[in-house]
Amino acid sequence: MSIPLNHNTPLPLYKQLAAYLRQRIELGELEPGTKLPSIRHMARSQGINRITVETAYAELEADGLVTSRRGSGTFVLPPFPGHDGPQADTPGRWPAWQHAAAERFEAIWPGHPAPLHSGATPAGVISLADGNSDPLLFPFEAFSRTLREVMRRDGTAALEYEEAAGYRPLRRTIARILVDQGIGVTPDNIVVTSGSQQAIFIIAQVLLRKGQTVYTETPTYPESLRLFRTMGMRIAAIPMDSGGMRTDLLEQAMRTHGEGLILTMPTFHNPTGICMDGHRRRILASMAEAHGIAVVEDDYAGDIRYEGHSQPAIKSLSAAGNCLYIGTFSKMLVPGLRVGYIVAEGPVLTQLERYKRMLDLSSPGLVQRVLERFVDVGSYRNHLNRLCRTYRMRRDIMLDCAQKWLPRCVHITPPSGGLFAWLRLPEDVHADALAETAPHHGVAIASGTAFFPQPQEGARHIRINFCRHDENTLKEAMRRLGTAMQKSIAATKYMK
Ligand SMILES: Cc1ncc(COP(=O)(O)O)c(C=O)c1O
Repeated sequence: MSIPLNHNTPLPLYKQLAAYLRQRIELGELEPGTKLPSIRHMARSQGINRITVETAYAELEADGLVTSRRGSGTFVLPPFPGHDGPQADTPGRWPAWQHAAAERFEAIWPGHPAPLHSGATPAGVISLADGNSDPLLFPFEAFSRTLREVMRRDGTAALEYEEAAGYRPLRRTIARILVDQGIGVTPDNIVVTSGSQQAIFIIAQVLLRKGQTVYTETPTYPESLRLFRTMGMRIAAIPMDSGGMRTDLLEQAMRTHGEGLILTMPTFHNPTGICMDGHRRRILASMAEAHGIAVVEDDYAGDIRYEGHSQPAIKSLSAAGNCLYIGTFSKMLVPGLRVGYIVAEGPVLTQLERYKRMLDLSSPGLVQRVLERFVDVGSYRNHLNRLCRTYRMRRDIMLDCAQKWLPRCVHITPPSGGLFAWLRLPEDVHADALAETAPHHGVAIASGTAFFPQPQEGARHIRINFCRHDENTLKEAMRRLGTAMQKSIAATKYMK
């Protein structure tokens, strides 16, 4: 077996080997029951370390693709029922209720959503497509130390169900951070959630009735679009300009569509990176109040700022009870912690807390306790400073590389914070086509079409995440993106 392993890419060899074998298994070239070469033989034949092979085989085993039998070797497993190729969904193959459920959801969210985890990126491809921060910057040692300390300190109490609203000392710490940012809250105003995605879900369930309208920027964060559509909500997509959501158009839309809620990402908007200016924030807060509509402020990456002054949170400008604020530690630390929160007041607060309890009883207490201690001793602040320095440098590298490698007609507004750059493509390049061909040039990007309720509106844009990889990998990814764009332009010219 000759395997094309590349020793000069940042992708670890074990990942490349696992990806190669996974593909062969999924294509049926390695049939169920096939014995993989022994670890020693594979290592020798490919000129790699035995541990590399062992780790690759372990990854395949964890994915349920192979099984290792002590003393006999590693064997390819038959596919898991339901993952057995294209015939899996043919009518009549499964009970009718299964097809009915699948069709219902397929109508709401056709196709596959973008992968969330890096393991889904093919070997040799650098992904600028996902929404994650760089996990290698996670303060692993400090966090592990805090974890051990908390387990010693709290014993089994850390393993009980937590209060549904969240571990009180963590809520106290979050309240302190928010007060420093001008948002007046107490721990009692906070409900800890499993990430801000769950926060959006809970708010939507508690505030909205089927058929009401969600007013949100277009483009916007695709997972919230999917969520609202699943719930049967109408989406009023409000265009943006360099000052954020167009409040004049929002006003018109609210007159037409009536009740619902406004969901906005005023700071480092995903995907455009735009910050809503202070004047607009004030207008939006008072307009929402005049129309008797709640504002939900999704501040998913507000602390990742490279320059400029932060604008006041809409929450701090809103009448009491009219704005719900959502925060998360996913981008500032890592998404795997799954800690986000809602800030609210008034009668709705109790209902948010009850809904959270009904949904999953509580978010994991152990993680909340470790996070609280980690933030409290100052480690979080140090981490955040380092993160902003590193990401600012990467932002500058991305902009330099864009000048050097990308066609002149590609337009980027330099983001002053957050993880993303939003690129306008040359006339001739369609974002979906580029997203499809770019991996053949070793880079993955997110097509703009994913971010619009009317996908074709995003055909001239792509989103890239410039924070995810170290500086050299980012440079290489930008060079590859330049090649992919040039090829795309050449291909369209040829077709004309
Ligand atoms: C704008 C926005 N809101 C919410 C989320 C959800 O993040 P999490 O649930 O990890 O906090 C994301 C994730 O990318 C996001 O971009």
